[in-house]
Amino acid sequence: MNPIKVGLLGIGTVGSGTFDVLKRNQEEIRRRAGRGIEITMVADLNTERARELTGGQVEVVADAREVVSHPDIDIVVELIGGYGIARELVLQAIANGKHVVTANKALLAVHGNEIFEAARSKGVMVAFEAAVAGGIPIIKALREGLSANRIQWIAGIINGTTNFILSEMRDKGLDFDTVLKQAQQLGYAEADPTFDIEGIDAAHKITLMSAIAFGMPVQFDKTHVEGITRLSAIDIQYAEELGYRIKLLGLTRRREDGIELRVHPTLVPASRLIANVEGAMNAVLVQGDAVGATLYYGKGAGAEPTASAVIADLVDVTRLHTADPEHRVPHLAFQPDELSSVPVLPIEEVTSSYYLRMRVSDQTGVLADITRILADSGISIDAMLQKESREGEPQTDIIMLSHLAREKQVNAAIAKIEALPTVLSGVTRLRMEELN
Ligand code: HSE
Repeated sequence: MNPIKVGLLGIGTVGSGTFDVLKRNQEEIRRRAGRGIEITMVADLNTERARELTGGQVEVVADAREVVSHPDIDIVVELIGGYGIARELVLQAIANGKHVVTANKALLAVHGNEIFEAARSKGVMVAFEAAVAGGIPIIKALREGLSANRIQWIAGIINGTTNFILSEMRDKGLDFDTVLKQAQQLGYAEADPTFDIEGIDAAHKITLMSAIAFGMPVQFDKTHVEGITRLSAIDIQYAEELGYRIKLLGLTRRREDGIELRVHPTLVPASRLIANVEGAMNAVLVQGDAVGATLYYGKGAGAEPTASAVIADLVDVTRLHTADPEHRVPHLAFQPDELSSVPVLPIEEVTSSYYLRMRVSDQTGVLADITRILADSGISIDAMLQKESREGEPQTDIIMLSHLAREKQVNAAIAKIEALPTVLSGVTRLRMEELN
């Protein structure tokens, strides 16, 4: 059988990794897919570099529209990124009856419902393993491997840049700004790191996983997003003293009244495997009712790890493109007419444990006033740390860990605590997850 023909949109890091791995492992890949998979066209604005990378073996064009409308192309691989031109090209490829493989989490988190509906009505596939956690086959695991389960929650370290920064802050006791600068110099963080450090990239990924886990439309606009830019080295240190590590987690949880969907720095017990995922690595922990907890670990970015996911999708599409569309795995794991309208809960309704740090006057009755406010708000204290006052400085840091409480109760209690004349700073509040 003739090889299936692939058109690549963008040949940057992931594109060139895809080209190289596909070439290097072509024989094994052909034996798996049942026919060869060949990149025959590449679109990139830098045509000279694209020709160099592909060794003159494929047709190189500057205008990606030529690829998505070329009659010979069966599958379009979109590696341009972003919401603008990428959306237009993906929709055009679908309209032209092409299958699409993409690593574009931003595009699918924001426009996924429109794109999946367009694909469904044209009977084509949109595959996106590479969009979440790079080389880790988490989409495959959630959509297929765990399909017997009622998934209860997912917690993921799904942004390598921020995990690298947090690891460095902890190891070296440095503050965020210093580590970010170093990470940029070393090439671990982008020149414009906003999407990573503000948690947006992680939010795109947890949004997609949440939709697949619970069978609901993609709802990035309902995802609560906090990054790591306001995190202090002192909180990482105090968390450590209390037996916790701080990780930027993407979290989604099924509750009776809705779905929690959030990204924020989170205290995790240091004894959990996921708390020990360091540097730029990714990990996703999934709790299913039948299987229990399963943990997936690996590289979340980089040329060949991401190419590994792109090519796995190419193999899937090659195997299934002649199948009746009704018999393919649905884009969001559940049949499109079976998606649920369960609400995503506002952050004030989230239930979590909390880490509270405040600077107080070291005088009689301060602690009693604070614990009284917490008790009156129905918030139970699990652990407490009080640092000794420094000599000549009658002030101290108090750190409290709460049991589970509703966020709006905690916010109301914090407002009352901050109004006490003996509380000298704002209260730093971080969420905590036991993940057991
Ligand atoms: N910038 C991401 C990260 C990889 O740092 O993990 C692509 O989503």
